[in-house]
Amino acid sequence: MASREVLRMGDSRLLRIAEEVTEFNTPELHALLQDMRDTMHAMNGVGLAAPQIGVNLRVVIFEVSANPRYPEAEAVPQTVLINPKLTFLKGRKEEDWEGCLSVPGMRGMVPRYVNLRYTGFNELGEKIDRTVSNFHARVVQHECDHLDGILYPMRITNMRKFGYTDILFPGQDVGDD
Ligand code: NI
Repeated sequence: MASREVLRMGDSRLLRIAEEVTEFNTPELHALLQDMRDTMHAMNGVGLAAPQIGVNLRVVIFEVSANPRYPEAEAVPQTVLINPKLTFLKGRKEEDWEGCLSVPGMRGMVPRYVNLRYTGFNELGEKIDRTVSNFHARVVQHECDHLDGILYPMRITNMRKFGYTDILFPGQDVGDD
């Protein structure tokens, strides 16, 4: 078990297209996922993508269970999602605030599709197929963007709604990322 350093925006490794996982249920994959979980929990994040710890594979994890940083957010089941494919449904987007462990101390207003179907595999190679909406859909879009070298500031359409968390939300304990 090890919490790993999270790469920060500006590091070119965050801009790569990650590669598909070809072998499941391997010691290497389980070790990667344990490091990702330890890192995400140590930083109180809701999600993490493998490229954020410098591993260029299409692997993301996420979970939301009463996270103090997102008190309004609905719970999202603890998920390992590998080689994800996203299908946007109905085409409607909504804006909300996002942060990222690779962009510490900042928040930005990001439009995301509200309704989403995602497919992929867990660490054992078992198929995942879910249709979700709202915060769950937002988290999946954010994490899967990391696999294509996209950080949320690249998705902001109104740069006036991008800033330091403590300035945007004074007096609120919304965390560091
Ligand atoms: Ni992120």
